[in-house]
Amino acid sequence: MSEHSKGRMICLEGGEGAGKSTALERVRDWLERRGRKTLVTREPGGTPAAEKIRKLLLDPQTGDIDPMTELLLMFAARRENVVDRIRPALAEGVDVICDRFTDASYAYQGGGRELGPTPVDLLAGLVHPGLTPDLVLVLDVPVEIGLERIKQRRGGPDRFEGGRKAFLERVRNAYLDRARAHPDRYVVVDASSDIEHVGAAIRATLENRLG
Ligand code: TYD
Repeated sequence: MSEHSKGRMICLEGGEGAGKSTALERVRDWLERRGRKTLVTREPGGTPAAEKIRKLLLDPQTGDIDPMTELLLMFAARRENVVDRIRPALAEGVDVICDRFTDASYAYQGGGRELGPTPVDLLAGLVHPGLTPDLVLVLDVPVEIGLERIKQRRGGPDRFEGGRKAFLERVRNAYLDRARAHPDRYVVVDASSDIEHVGAAIRATLENRLG
């Protein structure tokens, strides 16, 4: 857990079409209005090497890869981002806002790909020992609503968005299970309503947890 003076780590998580990008802007605005310096990053990605791994992971042309290979690539990208960007920023007192982090590995690879939490626990211990987000906002939408929203975006689905409904249900449940297990660090935000309501819920959460 990072200390307040060292910068805090806030992660945004959720299934497909949950509206993470808008939520991320709200979090950044809220922190900056309070005079905090922020760093926004995303996973997989965040550094040139990690963005290359991201391309490989998201490209539908990559085709099926073994779930453990997928998990290892997520953590390879994560290591670059943690060493290069996240830890240095936190050490300088910058608040880090991460568009997905290790909870996504618990949800997608642990839940969706059915690897379970154990390999994720092991890799998290290896790749970012002692680094745990201060706050994880889980933007929750029923799978059908999320799928409907991404259908309306331009461009085809990436390798994860193209996944089956059962897969996305497992992802959603894994997020909700983790949130239930760690209520001190997780807040589930109902992201099925309109942007204004979601924004208000996020602001209330930030006041409550970080204010
Ligand atoms: P992205 O375009 O960021 O999707 P979204 O807009 O839904 O956040 O793509 C990231 C994809 O990678 C997303 O489908 C979730 C997946 N992912 C994992 O499977 N495991 C991980 O550890 C992370 C960080 C992401």
